[in-house]
Amino acid sequence: MGVVLSIEENAPERGIEPLVALVRADMELVNQTILSRSSSDVSMIPEVANHLISSGGKRLRPMLTLAASGLCGYRGQGHVKLAAAVEFMHTATLLHDDVVDESDMRRGKLAARMVWGNEASVLVGDFLLGQAFKMMVEVGSLPCLEVLSTAAAVIAEGEVMQLSAAKDTETSEDDYLAVIRAKTAALFGAAAEVGPLLADRPKAEIAACRGFGVNLGVAFQLIDDALDYGGASAKLGKNVGDDFREGKITLPIVLAFRRGGPEQREFWKRALERGEIQDGDLEAAIAILRKHRALEDTIERARHYGAMARDALELFPTSPWKTALSGAVDFCVDRAF
Ligand code: IPE
Ligand code: IPE
Ligand code: MG
Ligand code: MG
Repeated sequence: MGVVLSIEENAPERGIEPLVALVRADMELVNQTILSRSSSDVSMIPEVANHLISSGGKRLRPMLTLAASGLCGYRGQGHVKLAAAVEFMHTATLLHDDVVDESDMRRGKLAARMVWGNEASVLVGDFLLGQAFKMMVEVGSLPCLEVLSTAAAVIAEGEVMQLSAAKDTETSEDDYLAVIRAKTAALFGAAAEVGPLLADRPKAEIAACRGFGVNLGVAFQLIDDALDYGGASAKLGKNVGDDFREGKITLPIVLAFRRGGPEQREFWKRALERGEIQDGDLEAAIAILRKHRALEDTIERARHYGAMARDALELFPTSPWKTALSGAVDFCVDRAF
């Protein structure tokens, strides 16, 4: 049994590598587009943008756009600009998100706001969002523009929803799911949906790609929220414990709050609602989360959404694209960064 498991774990098709390899040539073009479209005569714009862009990131969302296009047999060039637009939307949300969350570290470096300030971070995020929409218009697909512009609005709604739920230990699992569907899964869904839309594929394929992306996005954020307590900063490139310090009510907290007695509930209320955090509180929080298996159960939920993402792919015949997307699901669920 142990041997079987270790073979499965090491199976090359179970990670992100097949996807990276399949989209390598297109991603080269996407990266060139990203670089050229973040230039501006206003020198602070490329400085701030490149600080974040050149530190990498996993580039998951643009890879989804490229792979969904490939899966659906798209033959044109519009997917490159749309993939770049998707990554710009993501980059803009990171610039904004680090201001809102008061995060100090991003992609292994100081967050842009720590170097140039909150104002510059917000405004350069706006510039990138504008550039993203310009590229979508250039591609000229109204359905794609509709899907991506809807996602832009929904992401902002999700972040505002989260703001309203912050510090509220009464937040339910459903409230939490509504937030992450909006702030994270909407962009994953849109990134995948524009592939079949560009290729003019039937409704069922469009819905399948969207379903794949949305479920993958939910799984991705669930893991992100588990890693904020159970991960390693050096690997993640961002500080562990940001959510705790911010009073963000993520699923691990929802589960532990529900499962704890009055004393633990008072601990969460003091730390998250009243923001009275003392030395050692993060460690205490992690110990409580572990005691209630809150991180394991969050990861278990992520596996469930990952399985739904994989099911959505079943509509498509076997192909290297399908295998690569399936591998991306394993990566998102098993990831440590
Ligand atoms: C971070 O996304 C924001 C979340 C939705 C959790 P990623 O983890 O994809 O960020 P990068 O692009 O790889 O840095
Ligand atoms: C993701 O949420 C933010 C957006 C999708 C806008 P988080 O706040 O958890 O992301 P990180 O942890 O800062 O990357
Ligand atoms: Mg954040
Ligand atoms: Mg996070």
